[in-house]
Amino acid sequence: MRSSHLYLLLAMLALATPGCNCRFPAENRGEQAAQPGIHRQDWGMLTGKPVYLYTLTNGKGMSVMISNYGGTITRWTARDSSGQQRNLVVGFDSLSGYLARPPYFGALIGRYANRIGLARFSLDGHEYRLAANDGRNHLHGGLNGFDKKIWEAEELADSIPELTLKYLSPDGEEGYPGNLMISATYRLTDSNALSITYRAKTDRATPVNLTNHSYFNLSGDPGRPVLDENLVIDADHYTPVDSTLIPTGEIRAIGGTPFDFRHPQAIGSRIAEVKGGYDHNFVLNHPAGILSFAASLQDPGSGFRLLIYTTEPGLQFYSGNFLDGKFRAASGQTIGEHDALCLEPQHFPDSPHRPDFPSVILRPGETYFSQSVYRVILP
Ligand code: GLA
Repeated sequence: MRSSHLYLLLAMLALATPGCNCRFPAENRGEQAAQPGIHRQDWGMLTGKPVYLYTLTNGKGMSVMISNYGGTITRWTARDSSGQQRNLVVGFDSLSGYLARPPYFGALIGRYANRIGLARFSLDGHEYRLAANDGRNHLHGGLNGFDKKIWEAEELADSIPELTLKYLSPDGEEGYPGNLMISATYRLTDSNALSITYRAKTDRATPVNLTNHSYFNLSGDPGRPVLDENLVIDADHYTPVDSTLIPTGEIRAIGGTPFDFRHPQAIGSRIAEVKGGYDHNFVLNHPAGILSFAASLQDPGSGFRLLIYTTEPGLQFYSGNFLDGKFRAASGQTIGEHDALCLEPQHFPDSPHRPDFPSVILRPGETYFSQSVYRVILP
């Protein structure tokens, strides 16, 4: 079987989710969900708007907590081999943690995930200027990107717990053209897969690049570096970057380099050869737009494995290089360098300046569509 066929099969298996005979209590304020369904709790008020924390629990006892503040995944728990619940992502248990502006822990990123060089771009003969919030470049949608917005939420109490978040990004917000209506739907299936589907419509041409910025640590202990976790990325190429992390434009073969993750490789095994650590876009082998296998991560201690499937053409692998101990996880540990990592399915950084990269431009009448599935395999 050709590897692309194998990936398609894996992708289909990930989505083949038998329905559960779940009970769905309408609402369960103030306590964590114990039974399958979706539960909402109050999480505070911000600029006069209520902030909620939703717990999606599947029929297998896995829970994912998501806030309508920034579409943020705050906690993702699964049972380890001894039956204990382990949290596989870095997050806080109160809204105040997120208001201190952590580096995008668990957040939904937009209007443009990753960097746009020199914080400006031209489109249809106009130049647009964006906030330079990462040196001279624009990062993750600007000063107040989608990760800092309060989204409207809609819960669906169906056989699979589902939460849809919506946000209207007004024309000119953070310098971007066009009113952009975005929805993000999170579903937690009984095959322990969290699917996030993004859709967007605009009334003026605009770049759009959405992703989720979860920091994974599959040991369940965010105070422990992830350098011994084994990573696979289905990419034969990556995009080298300049000193400000903007792609040079080259699409470079990974063979023989520390970027070769085609077979399981411990993250720490060659990280010393990568100046600053991994913070690079990998060019996924699969045909863009088709939900296919992108990456897997495995922790040798806990035995948890994460499989990522996406429709996106790229995957940003960030090895938590800028984590500096400034923030403490909900469980109390300080989060230092390489204590967690991000695998962000997305279009390539700086695409508005690179006509040869897959296009990120959404035009009136078109619908932006992107789906990523994160499936956890229990030990
Ligand atoms: C992304 C970027 C990194 C860094 C983090 C947030 O993954 O690629 O360079 O900005 O977000 O700290």
